[in-house]
Formats: sequence, C-alpha cells, structure tokens
Amino acid sequence: MTAENIYPIFDTLLQTEDKEERLKQRAYVIWMVGLSGSGKSTLARALENTLHEQGFLTQLLDGDNLRVGINNNLGFSEEDRKENIRRAAETAKLFAKCGVVTICSMISPTEEIRCMAREIVGDRYFEVFVSCSVEECERRDVKGLYAKARAGEIKNFTGIDSPFEEPQTADLVVSTDKEPLEESHRKLVEAVLEKIKYEVE
Ligand SMILES: Nc1ncnc2c1ncn2[C@@H]1O[C@H](COP(=O)(O)OP(=O)(O)OP(=O)(O)O)[C@@H](O)[C@H]1O
Ligand SMILES: [Mg+2]
Repeated sequence: MTAENIYPIFDTLLQTEDKEERLKQRAYVIWMVGLSGSGKSTLARALENTLHEQGFLTQLLDGDNLRVGINNNLGFSEEDRKENIRRAAETAKLFAKCGVVTICSMISPTEEIRCMAREIVGDRYFEVFVSCSVEECERRDVKGLYAKARAGEIKNFTGIDSPFEEPQTADLVVSTDKEPLEESHRKLVEAVLEKIKYEVE
C-alpha cells in the first residue's frame, strides 16, 4: 500500500530509451520460473556469462541471494512468497529502467505471483519456464531440500506440500529433464538475444 502525500516525479527523468541508446541494448527482465532444482540458477548464470562476453550489461537477481539481503525478513508463507516476488520485481524494474538486462531466477510458484511480477515489470517482461518433473528435481536434490521436505523438516516446500502451477503463458519453455544443459542454454541465449539486440528504427 502506498503512503499518502507522495508525489513521484515522472516528466523530468531520463527515459529508459536514453539509457538503452547509451548501452546499445534493449532492457529486458528475464524472469526464470521453475521448481527447486529445475535449473533456474544454473541457466541464469550461464546466460549472464554469455551475454557479458558478448558485450551486454547484465545483472543477475537470484532468489536465494535476495533472501540474504533485501528479502532477509521473509519466510515461505503465502504472504511472504508474494512479498518476496514483489520486491524482486520492483528491483528488477529499477535495473531495467537503467537499461540493464536483468535476469531473475525465482521459483514463482503460482499464476497469481507471476501475474504480479509481469504487471510490475511491464512490457519488458520475458518469462522463461524452466520445466522439469518433480521426480527429476528430487533425484537431483542439489541442496538436499527434497530429502528434508520428505522427512518433514521443511514445511510448505514447493512441489511436495506446496503447489507449483505450471506456467501456461511463458515466452519460452526449456525442459531440463529432456535435454542437456547446453541445449537449454542455447535456446535461452537465442531467444534473449532476439529481444535485447539494439536496432535503430
Ligand atoms: N538442461 C539443464 N539445464 C539446467 N540444469 C540442468 C540441466 N540438466 C541438468 N541440470 C542440473 O540441474 C541442477 C539444477 O540446479 P539449480 O541450482 O540450477 O536449480 P534452481 O532451479 O536454481 O533451484 P532453486 O530454486 O532451489 O534455487 C544443476 O545441478 C544442473 O547441473
Ligand atoms: Mg537457484
């Protein structure tokens, strides 16, 4: 909720387009969605490295890292998950306003939450569904969290005792349980480059 007596300035600010012209890139927020262990952080890091090597200015906002800093007072209740995403989306929007290609890796389990992120970010939102079956994520169990969730040591764990609604309107889907990392990475880079390349009309 916004406080009263607040007067944001709009008209005197430099526009995103001015920053994009300086950087010679289009600012997008690449919002990577998927179960824990699906490959969001792995692909987000690989994407950022590739874009950086190609001369783009990027910023990675990873869910776990945000939870150490700006979101360190939030847990995993429904309300906190929403607030987690709201702050991530607002932060991503600020980076994008500055012309930066911003890559967010956040589980984003429900359509409601993703809708909010899309609304906050606006037309520069590009959603990537990192698809992977719960069975495969659990087999990988990169952080040992599925084992803890099964043992009842973690409550409300997405995919186990908290829902994950598969995105129906993602801009790109990569299936990390069906293809090697290199293939998912190649598809992701190709789709993102198409969006962020700078072309003067
Ligand atoms: N095609 C693929 N793309 C991405 N990762 C893959 C692929 N195939 C196998 N993997 C493996 O899956 C694991 C994904 O772990 P990662 O930490 O990236 O998941 P995450 O989605 O970020 O999870 P969390 O939400 O818990 O942060 C890695 O060990 C990675 O090597
Ligand atoms: Mg991760």
